[in-house]
Amino acid sequence: MAEPGTPLQGAPTPSAASEDVLRVEHIGKRFGPVTALKDVNLHLKKGEVLGLLGDNGAGKSTLIKILCGFQKPDTGRMFLRGEPYEPKSVDDARAKGIETVYQDLALIDELSVFHNLFLRKERVHKPLPLLANRQMKREARTALDEIGINIPRIDVAVARLSGGQRQAIAVARTVNSDADIILLDEPLAAMGAKEGAMILDLVARLKEEGRVSIIMILHNYVHVLEACDRVSMIQDGAIALDKPTAETSVEELTDIVVNEYKRARMANHEDTAPAT
Ligand SMILES: Nc1ncnc2c1ncn2[C@@H]1O[C@H](COP(=O)(O)OP(=O)(O)O)[C@@H](O)[C@H]1O
Ligand SMILES: [Mg+2]
Repeated sequence: MAEPGTPLQGAPTPSAASEDVLRVEHIGKRFGPVTALKDVNLHLKKGEVLGLLGDNGAGKSTLIKILCGFQKPDTGRMFLRGEPYEPKSVDDARAKGIETVYQDLALIDELSVFHNLFLRKERVHKPLPLLANRQMKREARTALDEIGINIPRIDVAVARLSGGQRQAIAVARTVNSDADIILLDEPLAAMGAKEGAMILDLVARLKEEGRVSIIMILHNYVHVLEACDRVSMIQDGAIALDKPTAETSVEELTDIVVNEYKRARMANHEDTAPAT
């Protein structure tokens, strides 16, 4: 029997749910023998920047892929702006206002910088089905200048750019959409310190505008504490820590990871210790 006050099936848990633009409960996902996610509960408030941390293979990218409609969870439920959310595809999620920068970027190597920026939302000369290349180039230049990333030529194929430049293009594309929820899977991965700082500045500007809510996977704790309002850490397929960044520190985050490492070492020892 349901407890009094237990939410009805299909309704979000009432606590602060109205502030949440996105909320997931009890998400689980397996790939054959691998359990990527066991029981993830996560929420994102309007205008918030949430930093997501976790070891390699912790399931961070899997969670992002579930949120953006690329993969379906095995268990659990999701809510978007308080309504049940079951995206059928990435396009479906995008139509509902969720844009994603994937860890393994989705740029098309052979296409130019500006064509990549307008992928799937190409400007055309209406009513003719002709690409408005000049307009796209102009808008692409403005978009990249706004981010402050130096990409000298926007008509070269992206295959010729550095990892950081490619990442910047992917971020620019997302930021220039109408999305109000942005998911960034390791947006600083291929970047040097200077480029990374530019992306974090951009996130700070977006935050000030207050239009979008962001989940961002990061590795550097200093970046998390600087750029995010709140931090969640995934361990063993569930959220092991969920705190406002103002209430945590590099030391606390490091301790959690060190302890996880010690547990993993112990488990390895037990596995390999000779039987007595
Ligand atoms: N498509 C897939 N098929 C099989 N295993 C997968 C797939 N995607 C992820 N995994 C596995 O799920 C676990 C979590 O992966 P991932 O979400 O990429 O972790 P993270 O992004 O935190 O490094 C890993 O063990 C990974 O090998
Ligand atoms: Mg990943």
